[in-house]
Amino acid sequence: MPQNKQIHLDNRPVGEATASNFKLVVSETPQLKEGEVLVRHHFLSLDPYMRGRMNDAKSYAQPQALGQTMGGGTVGEVVASKNAKFAVGDKVVGMGGWQQYSVVDAAQPGALRKVDTAHIPLSAYLGAVGMPGVTAWYGLVKIIEPKAGQTMVVSAATGAVGSAFAALSKARGCRTVGIAGGPDKCRYAVDELGFDACIDYKLHMDAPSLSRALKEACPKGIDGYFENVGGMVLDAVLTRMNAFGRIAVCGMIAGYDGAPLPLSYPALILVNRLKVQGFIVSEHMEVWPEALKELGTLVATGKLKARESIADGLEAAPEAFLGLLKGRNFGKQLVRLHD
Ligand SMILES: NC(=O)c1ccc[n+]([C@@H]2O[C@H](COP(=O)([O-])OP(=O)(O)OC[C@H]3O[C@@H](n4cnc5c(N)ncnc54)[C@H](OP(=O)(O)O)[C@@H]3O)[C@@H](O)[C@H]2O)c1
Repeated sequence: MPQNKQIHLDNRPVGEATASNFKLVVSETPQLKEGEVLVRHHFLSLDPYMRGRMNDAKSYAQPQALGQTMGGGTVGEVVASKNAKFAVGDKVVGMGGWQQYSVVDAAQPGALRKVDTAHIPLSAYLGAVGMPGVTAWYGLVKIIEPKAGQTMVVSAATGAVGSAFAALSKARGCRTVGIAGGPDKCRYAVDELGFDACIDYKLHMDAPSLSRALKEACPKGIDGYFENVGGMVLDAVLTRMNAFGRIAVCGMIAGYDGAPLPLSYPALILVNRLKVQGFIVSEHMEVWPEALKELGTLVATGKLKARESIADGLEAAPEAFLGLLKGRNFGKQLVRLHD
């Protein structure tokens, strides 16, 4: 059995997460028992939710245990199997964590899923045709419930969730406006992702200034907002929401490292009779097949271009993760573990 590099959570962050919170460990891989398979990971997914799990705080999920391999989504191939349903060479998606290999009890429902890489690259199953894609689908379809001709806005627009949101929203005939950090991301949003407009929030010091830019980009107001960020961006969007608008609260990344996120205009929720609903995608497994089917078709037909930021080697994972929390990624953040 191969030696296996792993990254453990060594200690919990105080304020901002740092590389010293993580520790590289080399371990032996145990022999397979009946029903288990050995998966060699090609890619590890880095996701903002991992920051929340580094804290020992009450949340929708258990905190990441100290001294254990960081949890996370992986894609890879089966390299040894004692399970009749999985053969050597099968391409699979699972929750292998921040390590090069995982031993998986493949008999457990949902532990490992075989995927077809004929028309969809393996890595896309961690992004557009995976959890982030379904997240965009759920918030748009089930919470925002868009109608053709309405105006949709999404923040963190060029990221894994935001880029899938653009393709799904455009497919429903909506004017689709992004908010992203920096001119390169905004240009890419319009030229490649199909956004009708994209606003660089870094050019705006405060919510009134960003609100003016939103007025120009959304002349008929905003009917649906997919919230990924919080803080000043949410304040600005609230000032442009139409009556009976819907806000899907997906993430508030501006606060994940502990910064407070005050809400300046909560009365607008009442004045505009807004629906504001948070959600966690893993609590809605019933929609995944339908969502993945649409997302797979969008990727296979080139309507959803899933840009990726790829860090090389497990050792690069902590810095890449810290970069994701600062917007240094450009598209879905992955770590390449094996070719
Ligand atoms: N509810 C759920 O079930 C669920 C599931 C998956 C993801 N999420 C949430 O969805 C959001 C996007 O996730 P993702 O995986 O697609 O990540 P991502 O958008 O690929 O990467 C995170 C992006 O957030 C932006 N960002 C970081 N710090 C920011 C700040 N202080 N202010 C404004 N923007 C900031 C950066 O983009 P810019 O450079 O453009 O600022 C960065 O690239 C996150 O909030 C995540 O927690 C929720």
